[in-house]
Amino acid sequence: MSNDAASAPSSAEPAPRPRFSDVLASVAHVEGWMTPAQARWLWDRASVLRPPATIVEIGSYRGRSAIVLASAASPGVEVVAIDPHGGNDRGPQQIKAVPEEGQRDHEAFCANLEAAGVADRVRHVRRPSQEALDAVEGPVDLLYIDGAHRYAPARDDIARWGDRVADGGILLIHDSFSSVGVTLAIVARLFFGSRFRYLGRTTSMTAYRCERLDLADRGRNALAQAAELPWFVRNVVIKALILAKLDPVARLLGHRDQVWPH
Ligand SMILES: C[S@@+](CC[C@H](N)C(=O)[O-])C[C@H]1O[C@@H](n2cnc3c(N)ncnc32)[C@H](O)[C@@H]1O
Repeated sequence: MSNDAASAPSSAEPAPRPRFSDVLASVAHVEGWMTPAQARWLWDRASVLRPPATIVEIGSYRGRSAIVLASAASPGVEVVAIDPHGGNDRGPQQIKAVPEEGQRDHEAFCANLEAAGVADRVRHVRRPSQEALDAVEGPVDLLYIDGAHRYAPARDDIARWGDRVADGGILLIHDSFSSVGVTLAIVARLFFGSRFRYLGRTTSMTAYRCERLDLADRGRNALAQAAELPWFVRNVVIKALILAKLDPVARLLGHRDQVWPH
């Protein structure tokens, strides 16, 4: 046997783990709103999990964040992506259902996961999140919420899927303190709650750890989240300025592009 043959990986060996920078480059063409810093948070939280852990993503769109989660996850860690691809609640100002758009998202999602080599690592549940609670058995170790951003569905995702997060598990929420609906849902369910400690945010992605909070902790937790409200007000003002086509004024607030702050 030659040295080359001896050092070649056998088919039984697991494939080498991809690098974050390569995965980030590979999702650059996949439409979506996840920033590189947010991708890094998903990556870091997913890559520390060991089997038989479970990752659940609510809201996958065309696969940008699902590819990062699935690429980071160790073999044996289950990755579940829940998205009805119904063409509703797709992104900023795209609330009303356009089923053909949803079908296009679904096809792009499948093709993008295939191209990234993670199609067999992700179990897609094509249902609205509130009708998919029975699709995942047992506790969830990492829950990423980025589905419908209106108040009621965002609140229900935090409440009902949040209940499924294991002690010590992590909850990440996109468009926190940016979307009005998501922010109100956070205020209603997480500001004064006793189960999720606020860890911080990178732009609009917030992180919480599931643990039991005593009364003093709950006060500190509410204050830590309330400290984000000025940033929320800034984002709402920027959105109003963009809608009013007053982008130069938005730039004075430090907002450089014409997309919704996210
Ligand atoms: C902002 S996009 C998700 C972006 C994705 N996380 C990414 O990084 O590319 C929102 C997605 O939520 C999905 N969605 C809408 N209503 C939903 C629901 N009730 N349950 C789960 N997903 C939903 C939409 O189909 C859409 O694909």
